[in-house]
Amino acid sequence: MPAVSFQNVSKSYRTARGELQALKGVSFDIEPGEFFGLLGPNGAGKTTLISILAGLARASSGAVRVHGHDVRQDYAAARRHLGVVPQELVFDPFFSVRETLRIQSGYFGIRHNDAWIDELLDGLGLADKAGANMRQLSGGMKRRVLVAQALVHKPPVIVLDEPTAGVDVELRQTLWQFVSQLNRQGSTVLLTTHYLEEAEALCGRIAMLKQGQVVALATTSDLLRGASSNVLRFKTDDALPPDLAAQARVTGRVVQLPAQNALDVERILARVREAGATAEDIEIRKADLEDVFLEVMTGAAASTAAVASPLPTEELKA
Ligand SMILES: Nc1ncnc2c1ncn2[C@@H]1O[C@H](COP(=O)(O)OP(=O)(O)O)[C@@H](O)[C@H]1O
Ligand SMILES: [Mg+2]
Repeated sequence: MPAVSFQNVSKSYRTARGELQALKGVSFDIEPGEFFGLLGPNGAGKTTLISILAGLARASSGAVRVHGHDVRQDYAAARRHLGVVPQELVFDPFFSVRETLRIQSGYFGIRHNDAWIDELLDGLGLADKAGANMRQLSGGMKRRVLVAQALVHKPPVIVLDEPTAGVDVELRQTLWQFVSQLNRQGSTVLLTTHYLEEAEALCGRIAMLKQGQVVALATTSDLLRGASSNVLRFKTDDALPPDLAAQARVTGRVVQLPAQNALDVERILARVREAGATAEDIEIRKADLEDVFLEVMTGAAASTAAVASPLPTEELKA
């Protein structure tokens, strides 16, 4: 049985400017023990999907199950299997960190939870803040408490919605160490993030959402293989020939172009020279998840089955 199952989930919001289709028939399963990434640009529908999973919003149609429990018909059981770290920081400012975690335990009917609460505080670098009031904490510390709060009932499925947006490097490392350890011990993790290098390092499988639809779903390694394998990077102050400019990722003086092989590299550099431009600091690197993401989002990878197909890889191979 999947840990999480989304079946043909659609969601429309009524807005001042009419209906907004935030999700358009999203289907995929997450197996127990997976570290799964849900990626997509702002407004793609990631938080909407997570809100439906957490029972905070209702799907317009479709079904969502957590360990077989429907999030609507069987809400309490589904919720018990989930630990959700929301994108927005929401707290009661008058309680201390430990009180906040005790109250959250109470919601799940758990008494005498202090041994686990202490483990959470230790693992998340919060031990010395247990007695501090929530309002005295920095944003990063509040984020840690949110994570601890999501985990008080030892849920088998952990959902993190942009947990590292705007937090410092130290917290990111503490958080990933802790969450990776829980994943190694068997927890299922569903993560959304804007940091593609984090997703590449952590997630075994990734779904990409674009305007409410799944446009890629594959293992991280299949996604990386499906992209242009190499990227040619150089600096220039000169204008590129128009055909190259159309494919290039340009950041200030830095130009990055997909290049499959040495012949591509030679061809590109020759075209640059013929156009009277000078390329400096030339480098070739392996394509990373950011390159794949951009290819998928701009539609450049539409012909690559592993990248563009919404089917799981098993089905592609069958
Ligand atoms: N409560 C709401 N009412 C109306 N529109 C919403 C609401 N929540 C989200 N949306 C819209 O739905 C789309 C998806 O938003 P969201 O799920 O937050 O995307 P993401 O988390 O991927 O950035 C966006 O266009 C957003 O403006
Ligand atoms: Mg969001």
